[in-house]
Amino acid sequence: MANARITVHTAAGIDRIEPEVHGHFSEHLGRCIYEGLWTSDSADEGGFREDVVSLLSDLEIPVLRWPGGCFADDYHWEDGVGPQEERPRRRNLFWAQGPEELPEESNAFGTDEFLELCERIGTEPYLAANVGSGDPQEAADWVEYCNYDGDTELADRRRENGHEEPYGVKYWGLGNENWGCGGQMTPEQYAREYRRYATYVGTMDNLMLDHELELIACGFEGHEWNRRFLEEVNGSPWGVEFPLDHLTLHHYYGRTMNVPEADEEKYDQFLVEALEMEDHIERIAAAINAVATTDDIGVIIDEWGSWHPEATADNGLEQPGTVLDALSAAAVLDVFNDHSDVLTMTNIAQTVNVLQCLVETDEDDAWARPTYRVFDLYAPHKGNEAVQTSVETPTRGLDGDDEDRELPLVGASASVADDETYVTVTNLDCRERKTVDVTLEGMDLDSKSIDAEILFEDHDPDAEVDADNAEEFTAEELDVAVDSGSLIAELPASTVAGISIR
Ligand code: AHR
Repeated sequence: MANARITVHTAAGIDRIEPEVHGHFSEHLGRCIYEGLWTSDSADEGGFREDVVSLLSDLEIPVLRWPGGCFADDYHWEDGVGPQEERPRRRNLFWAQGPEELPEESNAFGTDEFLELCERIGTEPYLAANVGSGDPQEAADWVEYCNYDGDTELADRRRENGHEEPYGVKYWGLGNENWGCGGQMTPEQYAREYRRYATYVGTMDNLMLDHELELIACGFEGHEWNRRFLEEVNGSPWGVEFPLDHLTLHHYYGRTMNVPEADEEKYDQFLVEALEMEDHIERIAAAINAVATTDDIGVIIDEWGSWHPEATADNGLEQPGTVLDALSAAAVLDVFNDHSDVLTMTNIAQTVNVLQCLVETDEDDAWARPTYRVFDLYAPHKGNEAVQTSVETPTRGLDGDDEDRELPLVGASASVADDETYVTVTNLDCRERKTVDVTLEGMDLDSKSIDAEILFEDHDPDAEVDADNAEEFTAEELDVAVDSGSLIAELPASTVAGISIR
């Protein structure tokens, strides 16, 4: 008998799953940029790590956010363009560039290197401008340097630096965590700053007729802050037409639990914290809908993922890549699919070597972490129409939890394309296997071709990846039976399945 029943409401469309929902974030922090994406002694004359570029290209990542993070509000982009030997070395107020390093920034990797990296990976760049310690002129100049095609000093400087054509950078963040490391601002203060920046950066857009800019404001997990920010932004003489295309928040989870030392009760708590993403999305969307509409202002989860206590500033925010973390990513990607009507982008933190990175490196090796495998398994959802699913699942309460929270032990989401329905199912129970029954409304499964894959069948939740075992975490074929019009699948504890029905 099945432990969980999933009904896919194939005709109940939610919205398109924007490919950008599978986006990524990279910061000048620890070994993310230096050693991770770029290394001055690389055989590649551009300094790029071909092994990492190749892994990221294979994943077809849709967007990459840079240069921070907290670092974005300490970064002056002109330090990082022009001949490398002439670029100033500066302190990095927030982060060292590796466990043994001083908190200094060489500026060897700057705007042109980042945008070339994006071209090599085949991804859309997203630049975060400095609001905390910068000024609107600096931000507008950065847009001009990157995107302007006319006869100005800044456009010419880009040409001299090797890029004749404008880059056409579409996504521009104005600040980062401006309630915290980006200037400790009140929501009203940030709203006024945002309006100033958006005026100058938005007006630059008028000079670049073929480059539609999308402006991004940084919100907060404290939702009252978002409401006050939006009311103040909306209070401008522009009415509802203010240039704000997306509002973001950051959600990290797992701050009290190192996976290798934790037990199954802690795993449950961790996964419940990950699933709180749903509440944050709904609350930020509600704040937007109170002053405008989520059709006009999209929700971006600009930074998300696990952040365990062993990831500290001293070690460059490095933590092991485990199956449990990957399982949380699957649970969160299901939440994202279900909220495709409001989500325009999300960026997991961070691309290489930092926090819940997808790729890890040491000097000579680069390998995919279990979270990379989850993104790969979920890739068929990108660009599809998400449809509603109902999941009847057992739950487990958290011992001694003041809020009586419960973990749903099975999760799922589904999407449809012209000739395919794609369903992802997670067994979030780290103790027991689950028999799962999946019904697709209005679909005769006997006439369909069904292919399924499963991740982590042979691994415990605390299994850690390294250079030698990385290939053991790849997806394997999963047997799925069709019985009385339903798909029946057996999912061992802490596994993730992707089922394609054509
Ligand atoms: O990703 C690490 C840090 O987390 C970022 O710099 C900041 O935006 C967030 O607090």
